Amino acid sequence: MRRHWTGVIVLVAVVALVSTLPAGAVGSRCEECHARITPLLVRDFNRGKMAETMTCADCHGEEHTGVDDADRATLPTIATCRQCHEDRAEQYLKGKHARGFLAIEALPFTHGQPDPYVAGQKGCGGCHTLGLVDQKARESESRKYYRYGMDCQNCHTRHAFSMREAREPEACQTCHMGFDHPQWEMWSSSKHGVAYLMDRKAHRGPRCQDCHMPAGDHRVRTAVGFLGLDLTTQDPEMQKYQASILKGLGVLDEKGEFTPLLDVVKAGDMVRLDRADFDAERRRITDRCKECHGASFVEANIKNADLMLKEINKLFAEAIEIVAGLRRDGIIEVKEGEGVYPQLLQFYEVDTHIEQILYEMFMDHRMKAFQATYHMNPDYATWYGYAKMKKDLAEIKELDREMRAAHAAAAK
Ligand code: HEC
Ligand code: HEC
Ligand code: HEC
Ligand code: HEC
Ligand code: HEC
Ligand code: HEC
Ligand code: HEC
Ligand code: HEC
Repeated sequence: MRRHWTGVIVLVAVVALVSTLPAGAVGSRCEECHARITPLLVRDFNRGKMAETMTCADCHGEEHTGVDDADRATLPTIATCRQCHEDRAEQYLKGKHARGFLAIEALPFTHGQPDPYVAGQKGCGGCHTLGLVDQKARESESRKYYRYGMDCQNCHTRHAFSMREAREPEACQTCHMGFDHPQWEMWSSSKHGVAYLMDRKAHRGPRCQDCHMPAGDHRVRTAVGFLGLDLTTQDPEMQKYQASILKGLGVLDEKGEFTPLLDVVKAGDMVRLDRADFDAERRRITDRCKECHGASFVEANIKNADLMLKEINKLFAEAIEIVAGLRRDGIIEVKEGEGVYPQLLQFYEVDTHIEQILYEMFMDHRMKAFQATYHMNPDYATWYGYAKMKKDLAEIKELDREMRAAHAAAAK
């Protein structure tokens, strides 16, 4: 009997709650039709806070009203969300994510790739269609390519747009994983990741967001960045190694003068150009470390990572100079418009075996080696990183000898 009454009370309470929901939550024209054609999408939307006061039309406009005119629905951009979330959108736009499309659009490499691979999101574009602020920027290219690349849904996925979801490190996993940036794998198997994942509630180990989005700041940006460079260093050896790398990247010419590519690097915010900026980004993270660790422990750790970065760049610079030598001596063909330095930003679009090894050294082994030192993962730093770089360099030296011998024999 008691149970029966409890049931009725719960039912009454639910009915009362539903009837007090704001008008927008249910029953808009859009939702009625979409509840039939895309029911689970509508359910997702209603999981989120925004369903309490908003309808589909707040983000997609009113132009599309029936089954035949779906192409008139507006696809939201950062500007759409900025209307109501100005602070988060502005922070986001100051960070590296908002440069994601610029980085690949400016590369000569990408122009030779299939459209679905870049614009159609099946390759590079799947993670890099970022930073397109207004509708025009997206509509200017064929719409069928630019769909489903909207930035803000990358961490709080549509249509639930949940803050809780975005706070979990898995929100970063889909992009920050794999070949050239396995931050997920490195973090999740480090002491930090393990401590966090074993007991999320206790939150002892730091998540990605704790170090990279302190206090929810949507501006993500680091000191050494993807390229693993410190152009503000005063260490002459480090400067020398980096000069070789910058030549390989095409930012310096053979004489060591800046090329027009510097503007792309600046626009993409790919390296820190002044010391104060570098130090401020560093401090932003190390201040987090010091909430859990002693200052000298933290400083020693980061210093060791910087020292490893120097060793890593030393190996890479040596390999670059060997391949440059082969190109300089005409043993590897230098194509029109290219300098003698290997074209690192052509990635895997290179013709010779030795340049393929150099590419793997750059994108696979060097990336893992230095990224792991900053993410407290000695296994990645060693066996997937530094040790593999030694192997690459040995192979490059051997191929250099063989290619020179074959070239000399052919010349006879
Ligand atoms: C009579 C049914 C109906 C109504 C009413 C309706 N839609 Fe749709 N909508 C559809 C159908 C069907 C599609 C899928 C078309 C396709 O993919 O070929 C669609 C697609 C969409 C898309 C995806 C567009 C794209 O390019 O992928 C959005 C966004 C959308 N609707 C939003 C809305 C909004 C907002 C409203 C209200 C203003 C609305 N819909 C009203 C039937 C409807
Ligand atoms: C018309 C104003 C408006 C627009 C446009 C808008 N939002 Fe919201 N958003 C809100 C309101 C209101 C809330 C609820 C605020 C609260 O409860 O604190 C909210 C909450 C959120 C939350 C927090 C949800 C949670 O779990 O606490 C996220 C994330 C969010 N919006 C993302 C977005 C994104 C992404 C876009 C663009 C695609 C967007 N919003 C567009 C008004 C808007
Ligand atoms: C799985 C998602 C994903 C794919 C696919 C992907 N990238 Fe990236 N890319 C990233 C992430 C994440 C970063 C930042 C990583 C870091 O800083 O360690 C990045 C960084 C870069 C950068 C450096 C940008 C900078 O400002 O420092 C370039 C250039 C780049 N990617 C080009 C490409 C190209 C070209 C392709 C296709 C061949 C590609 N990416 C495919 C996720 C991806
Ligand atoms: C807070 C803003 C917001 C609201 C409100 C919203 N959407 Fe969306 N919707 C988005 C975003 C962001 C995308 C992805 C656009 C992109 O990546 O280009 C999207 C994409 C879509 C798509 C195409 C992608 C897919 O998964 O099929 C459909 C269909 C769609 N929305 C329908 C709806 C319907 C129906 C509603 C109401 C129940 C709704 N949307 C409410 C932001 C919103
Ligand atoms: C890189 C992941 C990521 C991206 C991309 C992202 N967010 Fe967030 N968002 C978060 C995290 C993490 C939180 C939780 C912050 C906290 O702990 O307070 C959050 C929280 C929010 C909230 C909840 C209220 C608040 O202010 O904390 C809103 C609103 C929001 N984001 C809007 C946006 C908008 C708009 C965009 C696109 C310009 C966006 N987010 C892109 C990770 C992201
Ligand atoms: C949609 C894929 C995607 C998701 C999801 C994503 N990122 Fe990124 N992230 C990228 C790309 C692409 C870049 C490089 C952008 C560029 O080219 O400038 C990047 C760059 C960064 C950088 C800057 C590195 C530098 O060069 O200084 C940090 C830090 C970062 N992401 C952290 C995060 C965190 C933390 C999360 C989760 C809360 C996250 N990202 C989620 C794709 C993503
Ligand atoms: C304990 C703090 C901490 C955590 C947790 C953390 N990072 Fe980092 N991350 C760093 C430090 C330190 C650097 C190097 C920053 C510098 O140059 O000063 C870095 C650098 C990066 C970079 C730039 C390239 C690189 O790897 O050096 C990206 C991208 C990045 N982190 C993403 C992530 C993602 C995604 C996660 C979660 C899977 C994560 N980080 C977890 C501290 C952290
Ligand atoms: C939210 C707290 C928290 C933050 C922030 C944090 N750590 Fe940790 N860290 C831990 C915990 C918990 C462990 C596991 C302790 C153990 O191994 O016994 C750990 C382990 C480590 C370890 C490996 C194990 C050891 O104790 O020797 C290193 C190295 C480390 N942290 C360095 C850092 C650095 C550098 C930063 C900033 C970039 C940082 N941590 C940020 C909590 C944190």
